[in-house]
Amino acid sequence: MISYKRTTLPEPLITEDEIQKKVNELALQISSDYATRELVVVCVLKGAWVFMADLVRRLSLPVRCDFVRLRSYQGTETTGKVEMLLDTTSDLEGKDLLIVEDIVDTGITMDYLLSHMQKRGVRSVEVCALLDKPSRRVVDLEIRYVGFTIPDKFIVGYGLDFDEKFRNLPYIGVV
Ligand code: IMP
Ligand code: MG
Repeated sequence: MISYKRTTLPEPLITEDEIQKKVNELALQISSDYATRELVVVCVLKGAWVFMADLVRRLSLPVRCDFVRLRSYQGTETTGKVEMLLDTTSDLEGKDLLIVEDIVDTGITMDYLLSHMQKRGVRSVEVCALLDKPSRRVVDLEIRYVGFTIPDKFIVGYGLDFDEKFRNLPYIGVV
């Protein structure tokens, strides 16, 4: 267990071991589902970067990796308006896309990204979210791969932040 200087540690919700076990399960499933496909894994920055790094290293497939950066949050509040700060750079035409996201909350971010990607001539788009907070959903979404379904709490760690803090925490905790 790490110790953090100058701050109190968030209350653990999901341990490092539980996360790693889940990432293994997701990677096995994805490797089997996409065995014969041309998979492009798209990481939603910044929150999904830690999850993405762990997930792709467990896939037993040759995959391409690309990145988008979206912003909708300020502090712990969603603004309801999504901004794209960075788009993918690879040719996505005819490819099978897997969007890797840290958490789906209201669903507004993912809804925006899915319609953006569907206009790019891709063969398919699916979503892999480490965390799902279904109680706050305002748009209807199909998430093909979900790690953990969690209650309506603001969580940090394993890539997720509160005002840019705690992204480097190895477990998932509640602030
Ligand atoms: P949505 O558009 O409401 O679904 O929000 C999705 C984005 O908000 C995620 O990609 C996260 O970056 C961020 N987010 C939502 N809930 C949390 C949380 O509990 N902790 C940290 N970030 C969150
Ligand atoms: Mg995010």
